[in-house]
Amino acid sequence: MHNASYPALRLRRTRASAWSRALHAETVLTPADLIWPLFVVEGEGVEQPISTMPGVSRWSVDRIVERARVARDLGIPCLALFPNTPEPLRTDDGGEALNPDNLMCRATRAIRDAVPEVGILTDVALDPYTAHGHDGLIDAAGYVLNDATKDVLVSQALNQARAGADIIAPSDMMDGRVAAIREALEGEGFVNVQIMAYAAKYASAFYGPFRDAVGSRGRLQGDKKTYQMNPANAEEALREVALDLAEGADTVMVKPGLPYLDIIRRVKERFEVPVFAYAVSGEYAMIEAAAAAGAGDRDALVLESLMSLKRAGCSGVLTYHAPLAARLMAR
Ligand code: PBG
Repeated sequence: MHNASYPALRLRRTRASAWSRALHAETVLTPADLIWPLFVVEGEGVEQPISTMPGVSRWSVDRIVERARVARDLGIPCLALFPNTPEPLRTDDGGEALNPDNLMCRATRAIRDAVPEVGILTDVALDPYTAHGHDGLIDAAGYVLNDATKDVLVSQALNQARAGADIIAPSDMMDGRVAAIREALEGEGFVNVQIMAYAAKYASAFYGPFRDAVGSRGRLQGDKKTYQMNPANAEEALREVALDLAEGADTVMVKPGLPYLDIIRRVKERFEVPVFAYAVSGEYAMIEAAAAAGAGDRDALVLESLMSLKRAGCSGVLTYHAPLAARLMAR
């Protein structure tokens, strides 16, 4: 019976000591909850710091392999890879995405060979490869074409699967792409390659530093509002998730993370499937800026944010703070 009231009931009783708080914790964070996004750049021995993401760098393929070893040693189960495609290879059709020797494929193969214990998630979308910075092919008016883009994304996904990707993560928001990718994967025998759909991805102002990291920011013509979701909408997120699950997604993602906790919770309650959040570049930058300004303690801000995402219903979180968070959790 829940009929006790103060003073018989004192909710502060179980909070009175550290051991008791630990015993009564409803949510637990472990390094196994983390996916670490990494940016790959051409060259050897290269580390390029990204000014809008203090503490995050682009790494050449050889040095990405070092990061993979760090992840393994920290108990981080999975990496997410994004390329900074060299300028001359960015074209209107984003054709470099289909090159079996592009940066993504070389990084994937190198990690697979050197650190096979770590999972590799690869991003399906054309923005790191297009001259115009959009996630798909555009028409003369600059509109991103759905069906033509979908066909290219299928080829991109197969290219990544052949290189050894474990999780294909379409972040493009084209309609129908999950079904098309799933069918193509089955057709080539990649029956255990997962699809994590960026199902509810919002047209967000929090992606700025990421666009610096992959080099698409300056070139982006217009915005992405004709394909990414309106931040005003929640029911539409449920429809997006329903569709991607029906098309064969194994897991779904909500993106960004902290501003969309309500979406995470509603998706989890409605569908009872694994839900992931992407704590995006702008969220990372906000925490770093707050810490640098003395407005908050970095470690505490990171752990509280991740805890909130998990409490809202996430199975795991993509976060640039993954190595820091894993070290903090190990303490
Ligand atoms: C684009 C893509 C974006 C992110 C992941 N994939 C940015 C965008 O949609 O413009 C953002 C990730 C982040 O901000 O950390 N396919």
